[in-house]
Amino acid sequence: MRTRHLGSTGPQTSAIGLGCMGMSALYGTADRKESIATIHAALDAGVTLLDTGDFYGMGHNEMLIGEALAAAGQDRDSVQLSVKFGALRDAAGGWSGYDGRPQAVRNFLAYSLNRLGTDHLDVYRIARVDPAVPIEETVGAIAEAVEAGWVRHIGLSEVSADTLRRAASVAPISDLQIEYSLFSRGIEDDILPTARELGVGVTAYGVLARGLLSGHWTRDRDLTPGDFRGMSPRFTGDNLERNLGLVDALREVADAKGASVAQTAIAWVLSRGEDIVPLIGARSRTRLDEALGALDVTLEPQDLAAIERAVPPGAAAGERYPAAQMHHLDSEKK
Ligand SMILES: NC(=O)c1ccc[n+]([C@@H]2O[C@H](COP(=O)([O-])OP(=O)(O)OC[C@H]3O[C@@H](n4cnc5c(N)ncnc54)[C@H](OP(=O)(O)O)[C@@H]3O)[C@@H](O)[C@H]2O)c1
Repeated sequence: MRTRHLGSTGPQTSAIGLGCMGMSALYGTADRKESIATIHAALDAGVTLLDTGDFYGMGHNEMLIGEALAAAGQDRDSVQLSVKFGALRDAAGGWSGYDGRPQAVRNFLAYSLNRLGTDHLDVYRIARVDPAVPIEETVGAIAEAVEAGWVRHIGLSEVSADTLRRAASVAPISDLQIEYSLFSRGIEDDILPTARELGVGVTAYGVLARGLLSGHWTRDRDLTPGDFRGMSPRFTGDNLERNLGLVDALREVADAKGASVAQTAIAWVLSRGEDIVPLIGARSRTRLDEALGALDVTLEPQDLAAIERAVPPGAAAGERYPAAQMHHLDSEKK
């Protein structure tokens, strides 16, 4: 397995990380046994970075990972656990904002350690900036947890360049987790150059645009209630038609390369810099195998040019989140 570093101060990880969210939430029903088998297959293949959030299935995802790691009997130090916190939920599964107060950070962390069955997290980050709490205070509380040994590194998620600078002035930041794909290139103007200037790595999510850019999405796919894609502007109406047209164009490039669409999309993100680690949301061994195959796809300059012609920057139709959720993205604030 190839490796990369999360920024100048973060850990060395596998070049591709496994995003575990879809095993518990947001993408319809997942098969528990297959999810655990997928985590084990990832570890066997040399994937070391596992990403989760305490709010994915309200603790379900962390307990699943904890169970998978215990069953694998893996040395704890051979795996990096990246955990997000801060989202407030209710019993019906609703969302009611974010809490980044220092006492909330300490509380969220205590529960995560317990659910994951570990004495430390490798990277800890608030999922969305709490507008009522300066980022310096939230990051300061994580820095105290680093001092105490509960956390190894501090990350950020979906923040603007300005917030990134403010956070980095408090403590070293290993990586910014943010959406980045052929369909979502918003970080290229300002956020990515700032991260590079500050020595902050990027863990890219939505690399397959949540399945839309995987080559497996179909117009008639049945979505269960609560599936994020049912509410996502990119997956509906004319936007879906336009976006699947872009996937068809990318398929031609992928076919010529002897790679799948998903592998080409992942290889493109990998090609954007050694400081970027794609998190792939595989929840079956078949999808994982396909995703890891991207590591064997070398994109030459002419391939990259063909990909850019197939999916030019800004070509995807529709915002990456529904309006109410766009509002929570510090990274989208102008
Ligand atoms: N910081 C943040 O705000 C944030 C937000 C979202 C996610 N994340 C993290 O990033 C991770 C990845 O994000 P994501 O799951 O939305 O992104 P993704 O990798 O773009 O999409 C995953 C979806 O793509 C489909 N897919 C099709 N072919 C695939 C293949 N070969 N390999 C993997 N998936 C394939 C899967 O569907 P099927 O399983 O139905 O085939 C899966 O539902 C999450 O698990 C989470 O840990 C972070």
